[in-house]
Amino acid sequence: MKMQIDAQRLRSDFDALAAIGVTPDGGVDRSALNDAHLEARRWFLERADAAGLETAVDAAGNHSALLRAHDANAPTLLLGSHLDSVPNGGRYDGALGVLAALEVLRTVRDAELELPVTLEAIDFTDEEGTLVGLLGSYAVAGLPLELANPRGGRDVLVEALARAGLEESRLTDARRDPSQLVAYLELHIEQGPRLEGAGVQIGVVTAIVGARSFRVTFAGRAAHAGTTPMDARADAGLAAARFVDRVNRIVVEEFPDAVATVGALELEPGAFNVVAGLAHVSLEFRAQDEETLDRLQARLFEGVDAQVEPVARWEPTPLDPDVRTAIAGAADELGLSWRELTSGAGHDAQALANVTRSGMLFVPSQNGVSHNPAEHTSWDDCVNGANVLLHAALALSRR
Ligand code: GLV
Ligand code: MN
Ligand code: MN
Repeated sequence: MKMQIDAQRLRSDFDALAAIGVTPDGGVDRSALNDAHLEARRWFLERADAAGLETAVDAAGNHSALLRAHDANAPTLLLGSHLDSVPNGGRYDGALGVLAALEVLRTVRDAELELPVTLEAIDFTDEEGTLVGLLGSYAVAGLPLELANPRGGRDVLVEALARAGLEESRLTDARRDPSQLVAYLELHIEQGPRLEGAGVQIGVVTAIVGARSFRVTFAGRAAHAGTTPMDARADAGLAAARFVDRVNRIVVEEFPDAVATVGALELEPGAFNVVAGLAHVSLEFRAQDEETLDRLQARLFEGVDAQVEPVARWEPTPLDPDVRTAIAGAADELGLSWRELTSGAGHDAQALANVTRSGMLFVPSQNGVSHNPAEHTSWDDCVNGANVLLHAALALSRR
Protein backbone atom coordinates (compact mmCIF):
# COMPACT_ATOMS: atom_id res chain seq x y z
CA MET A 1 0.00 0.00 0.00
CA LYS A 2 1.45 3.35 -1.03
CA MET A 3 1.82 6.05 1.58
CA GLN A 4 -1.33 8.22 1.76
CA ILE A 5 -2.19 11.58 3.24
CA ASP A 6 -4.64 11.65 6.16
CA ALA A 7 -7.89 12.47 4.34
CA GLN A 8 -9.82 13.15 7.53
CA ARG A 9 -7.25 15.58 8.87
CA LEU A 10 -7.27 17.39 5.51
CA ARG A 11 -11.07 17.48 5.51
CA SER A 12 -11.24 18.95 8.96
CA ASP A 13 -8.80 21.70 7.92
CA PHE A 14 -10.70 22.30 4.70
CA ASP A 15 -14.00 22.81 6.54
CA ALA A 16 -12.43 25.05 9.18
CA LEU A 17 -10.81 27.24 6.52
CA ALA A 18 -14.01 27.44 4.45
CA ALA A 19 -15.73 28.95 7.50
CA ILE A 20 -13.29 31.89 7.56
CA GLY A 21 -14.81 34.63 5.42
CA VAL A 22 -17.82 32.46 4.57
CA THR A 23 -20.55 34.18 2.55
CA PRO A 24 -24.32 33.53 2.89
CA ASP A 25 -24.35 31.34 -0.23
CA GLY A 26 -21.50 29.12 0.98
CA GLY A 27 -18.61 30.77 -0.84
CA VAL A 28 -15.83 32.85 0.72
CA ASP A 29 -14.82 36.47 0.60
CA ARG A 30 -11.13 36.61 1.43
CA SER A 31 -9.97 39.39 -0.85
CA ALA A 32 -6.23 39.84 -0.34
CA LEU A 33 -5.35 41.20 3.10
CA ASN A 34 -8.95 41.87 4.14
CA ASP A 35 -9.85 40.86 7.71
CA ALA A 36 -11.03 37.37 6.77
CA HIS A 37 -7.92 36.72 4.71
CA LEU A 38 -5.64 37.85 7.54
CA GLU A 39 -7.59 35.61 9.92
CA ALA A 40 -7.20 32.66 7.51
CA ARG A 41 -3.45 33.24 7.38
CA ARG A 42 -3.16 33.34 11.17
CA TRP A 43 -5.20 30.12 11.32
CA PHE A 44 -2.86 28.48 8.79
CA LEU A 45 0.20 29.28 10.92
CA GLU A 46 -1.61 27.98 14.02
CA ARG A 47 -2.38 24.70 12.25
CA ALA A 48 1.26 24.37 11.19
CA ASP A 49 2.43 25.20 14.69
CA ALA A 50 0.01 22.70 16.22
CA ALA A 51 1.56 20.06 13.94
CA GLY A 52 5.01 20.88 15.30
CA LEU A 53 6.17 22.47 12.06
CA GLU A 54 8.29 25.59 11.86
CA THR A 55 6.49 28.69 10.54
CA ALA A 56 7.70 31.80 8.72
CA VAL A 57 6.35 35.01 7.19
CA ASP A 58 8.47 36.86 4.63
CA ALA A 59 8.71 40.53 3.64
CA ALA A 60 5.95 40.11 1.02
CA GLY A 61 3.66 38.56 3.62
CA ASN A 62 3.93 35.03 2.23
CA HIS A 63 3.07 32.58 5.02
CA SER A 64 4.91 29.27 5.27
CA ALA A 65 5.09 26.01 7.18
CA LEU A 66 8.44 24.22 7.03
CA LEU A 67 9.68 20.70 7.54
CA ARG A 68 13.44 21.07 7.72
CA ALA A 69 15.92 18.64 6.25
CA HIS A 70 18.61 17.47 8.66
CA ASP A 71 21.24 19.11 6.52
CA ALA A 72 20.97 22.83 7.25
CA ASN A 73 22.24 23.62 3.75
CA ALA A 74 19.66 21.46 1.98
CA PRO A 75 17.68 23.25 -0.75
CA THR A 76 13.92 23.78 -0.52
CA LEU A 77 11.09 22.09 -2.37
CA LEU A 78 8.20 24.57 -2.40
CA LEU A 79 4.59 23.34 -2.36
CA GLY A 80 1.87 25.93 -2.30
CA SER A 81 -0.95 28.08 -3.57
CA HIS A 82 -2.98 30.94 -2.05
CA LEU A 83 -5.54 31.57 0.71
CA ASP A 84 -6.91 34.79 -0.78
CA SER A 85 -10.03 34.63 -2.96
CA VAL A 86 -11.78 36.77 -5.52
CA PRO A 87 -14.63 38.82 -4.04
CA ASN A 88 -17.43 36.30 -3.42
CA GLY A 89 -15.32 33.38 -4.59
CA GLY A 90 -15.42 29.64 -3.96
CA ARG A 91 -13.92 27.48 -1.22
CA TYR A 92 -11.47 25.48 -3.34
CA ASP A 93 -9.54 27.98 -5.47
CA GLY A 94 -6.12 28.28 -3.84
CA ALA A 95 -7.26 26.88 -0.49
CA LEU A 96 -7.03 23.25 -1.59
CA GLY A 97 -3.44 23.67 -2.73
CA VAL A 98 -2.25 25.29 0.49
CA LEU A 99 -3.98 22.78 2.74
CA ALA A 100 -2.82 19.80 0.69
CA ALA A 101 0.74 21.16 0.90
CA LEU A 102 0.46 21.41 4.69
CA GLU A 103 -0.95 17.88 4.79
CA VAL A 104 1.98 16.58 2.73
CA LEU A 105 4.42 18.02 5.30
CA ARG A 106 2.52 16.40 8.17
CA THR A 107 2.38 13.06 6.34
CA VAL A 108 6.12 13.05 5.64
CA ARG A 109 6.85 14.07 9.22
CA ASP A 110 4.54 11.36 10.66
CA ALA A 111 6.22 8.74 8.47
CA GLU A 112 9.60 9.92 9.80
CA LEU A 113 10.92 10.11 6.27
CA GLU A 114 14.23 11.89 6.02
CA LEU A 115 14.30 13.80 2.77
CA PRO A 116 17.35 15.51 1.30
CA VAL A 117 15.31 18.73 0.95
CA THR A 118 13.45 21.12 3.22
CA LEU A 119 9.74 20.93 2.44
CA GLU A 120 7.90 24.25 2.55
CA ALA A 121 4.13 24.75 2.28
CA ILE A 122 3.63 28.36 1.19
CA ASP A 123 0.56 30.60 1.01
CA PHE A 124 1.38 33.35 -1.48
CA THR A 125 0.11 36.90 -0.94
CA ASP A 126 -2.51 38.33 -3.35
CA GLU A 127 -2.57 35.68 -6.02
CA GLU A 128 -5.99 36.77 -7.24
CA GLY A 129 -5.12 40.35 -8.06
CA THR A 130 -7.62 42.28 -6.01
CA LEU A 131 -4.47 44.27 -5.17
CA VAL A 132 -1.70 43.59 -7.72
CA GLY A 133 -1.91 39.93 -8.73
CA LEU A 134 0.75 37.25 -8.09
CA LEU A 135 2.29 39.75 -5.67
CA GLY A 136 3.87 37.26 -3.28
CA SER A 137 5.14 34.83 -5.91
CA TYR A 138 6.57 37.64 -8.06
CA ALA A 139 8.43 38.90 -5.00
CA VAL A 140 9.83 35.43 -4.25
CA ALA A 141 10.91 35.05 -7.88
CA GLY A 142 12.51 38.52 -7.88
CA LEU A 143 10.24 39.74 -10.71
CA PRO A 144 9.27 43.43 -10.96
CA LEU A 145 6.15 44.40 -8.98
CA GLU A 146 3.60 46.77 -10.54
CA LEU A 147 2.97 48.91 -7.48
CA ALA A 148 2.50 52.37 -9.01
CA ASN A 149 -0.68 51.52 -10.89
CA PRO A 150 -1.97 48.27 -9.38
CA ARG A 151 -5.06 46.40 -10.59
CA GLY A 152 -7.12 47.27 -7.50
CA GLY A 153 -6.03 50.92 -7.44
CA ARG A 154 -3.28 52.60 -5.49
CA ASP A 155 -5.32 53.57 -2.40
CA VAL A 156 -6.62 50.03 -1.92
CA LEU A 157 -3.06 48.66 -2.06
CA VAL A 158 -1.62 51.18 0.40
CA GLU A 159 -4.43 50.54 2.86
CA ALA A 160 -4.13 46.75 2.55
CA LEU A 161 -0.36 46.72 3.09
CA ALA A 162 -0.80 48.89 6.18
CA ARG A 163 -3.51 46.58 7.53
CA ALA A 164 -1.19 43.58 7.12
CA GLY A 165 1.82 45.43 8.55
CA LEU A 166 3.76 45.12 5.27
CA GLU A 167 6.19 47.75 4.03
CA GLU A 168 5.98 48.55 0.35
CA SER A 169 9.68 49.32 0.04
CA ARG A 170 10.60 45.95 1.55
CA LEU A 171 8.31 43.62 -0.44
CA THR A 172 11.14 42.70 -2.80
CA ASP A 173 13.23 41.45 0.15
CA ALA A 174 11.16 38.27 -0.15
CA ARG A 175 13.26 37.28 -3.17
CA ARG A 176 14.76 33.79 -2.80
CA ASP A 177 18.09 32.61 -4.09
CA PRO A 178 17.10 30.34 -7.01
CA SER A 179 20.01 28.00 -6.27
CA GLN A 180 18.29 27.18 -2.96
CA LEU A 181 15.09 26.00 -4.71
CA VAL A 182 14.61 22.43 -5.93
CA ALA A 183 11.24 22.98 -7.60
CA TYR A 184 7.75 24.44 -7.07
CA LEU A 185 4.68 22.22 -7.17
CA GLU A 186 1.05 23.35 -6.91
CA LEU A 187 -2.22 21.43 -6.65
CA HIS A 188 -5.26 23.40 -7.86
CA ILE A 189 -8.78 22.83 -9.05
CA GLU A 190 -9.06 22.95 -12.83
CA GLN A 191 -11.67 25.76 -12.84
CA GLY A 192 -12.86 24.56 -16.26
CA PRO A 193 -14.82 21.59 -17.64
CA ARG A 194 -12.21 19.48 -19.43
CA LEU A 195 -11.24 16.85 -16.83
CA GLU A 196 -14.84 16.25 -15.81
CA GLY A 197 -15.90 16.09 -19.46
CA ALA A 198 -13.20 13.51 -20.22
CA GLY A 199 -13.84 11.55 -17.01
CA VAL A 200 -10.16 11.93 -16.04
CA GLN A 201 -9.00 12.25 -12.41
CA ILE A 202 -5.76 14.26 -12.65
CA GLY A 203 -4.62 17.05 -14.99
CA VAL A 204 -0.91 17.50 -15.66
CA VAL A 205 -0.52 21.15 -16.62
CA THR A 206 1.74 21.81 -19.59
CA ALA A 207 1.54 25.62 -19.74
CA ILE A 208 -0.19 28.63 -18.24
CA VAL A 209 -1.90 31.20 -20.41
CA GLY A 210 -0.57 34.74 -20.83
CA ALA A 211 -2.83 37.63 -19.79
CA ARG A 212 -2.84 41.38 -20.28
CA SER A 213 -5.12 43.88 -18.60
CA PHE A 214 -5.92 47.50 -19.42
CA ARG A 215 -8.01 50.36 -18.10
CA VAL A 216 -9.79 51.93 -21.07
CA THR A 217 -11.41 55.33 -20.51
CA PHE A 218 -13.97 56.83 -22.89
CA ALA A 219 -14.57 60.55 -22.61
CA GLY A 220 -17.92 62.08 -23.61
CA ARG A 221 -19.87 65.08 -22.32
CA ALA A 222 -22.10 64.93 -19.26
CA ALA A 223 -25.52 66.32 -20.19
CA HIS A 224 -29.15 66.54 -19.11
CA ALA A 225 -30.90 63.25 -19.89
CA GLY A 226 -34.24 64.90 -20.55
CA THR A 227 -33.35 67.97 -22.56
CA THR A 228 -30.34 66.90 -24.64
CA PRO A 229 -31.51 65.62 -28.06
CA MET A 230 -30.25 62.17 -29.00
CA ASP A 231 -28.20 63.55 -31.88
CA ALA A 232 -26.52 66.16 -29.71
CA ARG A 233 -24.96 63.77 -27.21
CA ALA A 234 -21.42 62.58 -26.63
CA ASP A 235 -22.38 59.56 -24.52
CA ALA A 236 -19.34 57.90 -22.97
CA GLY A 237 -21.51 55.00 -21.76
CA LEU A 238 -22.64 54.24 -25.29
CA ALA A 239 -19.05 54.32 -26.57
CA ALA A 240 -18.05 51.89 -23.80
CA ALA A 241 -20.98 49.59 -24.58
CA ARG A 242 -19.99 49.48 -28.24
CA PHE A 243 -16.43 48.67 -27.21
CA VAL A 244 -17.60 45.78 -24.99
CA ASP A 245 -19.53 44.34 -27.93
CA ARG A 246 -16.58 44.87 -30.26
CA VAL A 247 -14.21 43.01 -27.93
CA ASN A 248 -16.52 40.04 -27.82
CA ARG A 249 -17.09 39.93 -31.58
CA ILE A 250 -13.39 40.19 -32.45
CA VAL A 251 -12.43 37.34 -30.14
CA VAL A 252 -15.30 35.08 -31.15
CA GLU A 253 -14.90 35.67 -34.87
CA GLU A 254 -11.14 36.07 -35.27
CA PHE A 255 -9.31 34.60 -32.23
CA PRO A 256 -10.90 31.22 -31.42
CA ASP A 257 -8.05 30.25 -29.04
CA ALA A 258 -8.20 33.45 -26.99
CA VAL A 259 -10.61 34.86 -24.41
CA ALA A 260 -11.38 38.49 -23.53
CA THR A 261 -13.42 39.91 -20.70
CA VAL A 262 -14.75 43.26 -19.57
CA GLY A 263 -15.17 42.49 -15.90
CA ALA A 264 -15.92 46.01 -14.65
CA LEU A 265 -17.60 49.03 -16.16
CA GLU A 266 -18.13 52.34 -14.40
CA LEU A 267 -19.90 55.45 -15.63
CA GLU A 268 -19.44 59.00 -14.35
CA PRO A 269 -21.13 60.80 -12.87
CA GLY A 270 -23.39 57.73 -12.77
CA ALA A 271 -27.02 58.84 -12.42
CA PHE A 272 -30.35 58.07 -14.10
CA ASN A 273 -30.71 61.57 -15.44
CA VAL A 274 -27.21 62.40 -16.62
CA VAL A 275 -25.68 61.31 -19.94
CA ALA A 276 -22.35 59.75 -18.95
CA GLY A 277 -19.36 62.05 -19.32
CA LEU A 278 -16.81 59.33 -18.61
CA ALA A 279 -16.79 55.54 -18.88
CA HIS A 280 -14.10 53.33 -17.33
CA VAL A 281 -13.75 49.83 -18.77
CA SER A 282 -11.61 47.05 -17.21
CA LEU A 283 -10.42 44.87 -20.07
CA GLU A 284 -8.47 41.65 -19.80
CA PHE A 285 -7.55 39.14 -22.50
CA ARG A 286 -5.63 35.88 -22.48
CA ALA A 287 -3.99 33.53 -24.98
CA GLN A 288 -1.37 30.79 -24.97
CA ASP A 289 1.30 32.63 -26.93
CA GLU A 290 2.86 36.06 -27.16
CA GLU A 291 2.27 36.44 -30.88
CA THR A 292 -1.50 35.94 -30.50
CA LEU A 293 -1.57 38.37 -27.58
CA ASP A 294 0.24 41.02 -29.66
CA ARG A 295 -2.11 40.60 -32.63
CA LEU A 296 -5.21 40.57 -30.44
CA GLN A 297 -4.12 43.67 -28.57
CA ALA A 298 -3.51 45.58 -31.80
CA ARG A 299 -6.86 44.48 -33.21
CA LEU A 300 -8.91 45.31 -30.09
CA PHE A 301 -7.65 48.89 -29.94
CA GLU A 302 -7.58 49.53 -33.71
CA GLY A 303 -9.38 52.81 -34.37
CA VAL A 304 -10.72 53.04 -30.81
CA ASP A 305 -10.90 56.62 -29.52
CA ALA A 306 -10.12 56.15 -25.83
CA GLN A 307 -7.36 56.54 -23.29
CA VAL A 308 -5.68 53.15 -22.87
CA GLU A 309 -3.64 52.40 -19.77
CA PRO A 310 -1.80 49.06 -19.34
CA VAL A 311 -2.32 47.57 -15.87
CA ALA A 312 -0.85 44.08 -15.76
CA ARG A 313 0.93 41.66 -18.01
CA TRP A 314 1.51 37.97 -17.28
CA GLU A 315 3.60 36.13 -19.84
CA PRO A 316 2.51 32.74 -21.25
CA THR A 317 4.52 30.15 -19.32
CA PRO A 318 5.44 26.56 -20.20
CA LEU A 319 5.77 24.33 -17.11
CA ASP A 320 8.73 22.12 -16.34
CA PRO A 321 9.06 18.68 -18.02
CA ASP A 322 10.63 17.03 -14.91
CA VAL A 323 7.76 18.19 -12.74
CA ARG A 324 5.23 17.03 -15.32
CA THR A 325 6.89 13.62 -15.37
CA ALA A 326 6.86 13.46 -11.57
CA ILE A 327 3.12 14.27 -11.47
CA ALA A 328 2.20 11.77 -14.20
CA GLY A 329 4.38 9.12 -12.54
CA ALA A 330 2.71 9.71 -9.17
CA ALA A 331 -0.75 9.41 -10.76
CA ASP A 332 0.31 6.14 -12.41
CA GLU A 333 1.67 4.76 -9.13
CA LEU A 334 -1.64 5.56 -7.45
CA GLY A 335 -3.68 4.06 -10.28
CA LEU A 336 -5.29 7.39 -11.19
CA SER A 337 -6.13 8.44 -14.74
CA TRP A 338 -4.43 11.58 -16.01
CA ARG A 339 -4.12 13.76 -19.09
CA GLU A 340 -2.14 16.81 -20.04
CA LEU A 341 -3.86 20.17 -20.35
CA THR A 342 -3.13 23.89 -20.36
CA SER A 343 -4.31 26.38 -17.74
CA GLY A 344 -6.50 29.30 -18.74
CA ALA A 345 -6.23 30.70 -15.22
CA GLY A 346 -3.21 32.50 -13.85
CA HIS A 347 -1.27 30.86 -11.02
CA ASP A 348 1.73 31.48 -8.75
CA ALA A 349 3.44 28.61 -10.63
CA GLN A 350 4.00 30.97 -13.58
CA ALA A 351 6.03 33.33 -11.41
CA LEU A 352 8.12 30.51 -9.95
CA ALA A 353 8.78 29.12 -13.43
CA ASN A 354 11.16 32.05 -13.95
CA VAL A 355 13.52 30.82 -11.24
CA THR A 356 12.99 27.10 -10.66
CA ARG A 357 11.40 23.96 -12.11
CA SER A 358 7.71 24.73 -11.71
CA GLY A 359 4.66 22.56 -12.26
CA MET A 360 0.99 22.08 -11.44
CA LEU A 361 -1.62 19.39 -11.20
CA PHE A 362 -5.36 19.89 -11.50
CA VAL A 363 -8.36 18.03 -10.13
CA PRO A 364 -11.80 18.22 -11.77
CA SER A 365 -14.17 21.13 -11.15
CA GLN A 366 -17.84 20.21 -11.08
CA ASN A 367 -19.49 21.75 -14.16
CA GLY A 368 -16.27 23.72 -14.67
CA VAL A 369 -17.54 26.43 -12.30
CA SER A 370 -15.02 28.68 -10.50
CA HIS A 371 -14.69 32.24 -9.17
CA ASN A 372 -18.20 31.60 -7.93
CA PRO A 373 -19.58 30.39 -4.56
CA ALA A 374 -20.92 27.28 -6.32
CA GLU A 375 -17.35 26.11 -7.06
CA HIS A 376 -17.15 22.42 -6.14
CA THR A 377 -14.76 19.48 -6.43
CA SER A 378 -15.71 16.04 -5.11
CA TRP A 379 -13.91 15.16 -1.93
CA ASP A 380 -12.47 12.01 -3.51
CA ASP A 381 -10.89 14.16 -6.21
CA CYS A 382 -9.42 16.50 -3.58
CA VAL A 383 -7.87 13.55 -1.75
CA ASN A 384 -6.54 12.08 -5.00
CA GLY A 385 -4.94 15.44 -5.80
CA ALA A 386 -3.31 15.63 -2.37
CA ASN A 387 -1.92 12.10 -2.73
CA VAL A 388 -0.49 12.87 -6.16
CA LEU A 389 1.03 16.04 -4.69
CA LEU A 390 2.65 13.92 -1.97
CA HIS A 391 4.14 11.35 -4.32
CA ALA A 392 5.23 13.87 -6.93
CA ALA A 393 6.95 15.84 -4.14
CA LEU A 394 8.71 12.69 -2.91
CA ALA A 395 9.89 11.91 -6.44
CA LEU A 396 11.20 15.46 -6.97
CA SER A 397 12.90 15.56 -3.60
CA ARG A 398 14.93 12.45 -4.42
CA ARG A 399 16.02 13.58 -7.84
C1 GLV B 1 -6.63 34.03 -11.22
O1 GLV B 1 -7.40 33.17 -10.77
C2 GLV B 1 -6.80 34.46 -12.57
O2 GLV B 1 -6.56 33.64 -13.48
O3 GLV B 1 -7.22 35.60 -12.77
MN1 MN C 1 -6.20 30.10 -7.72
MN1 MN D 1 -8.69 32.35 -8.74
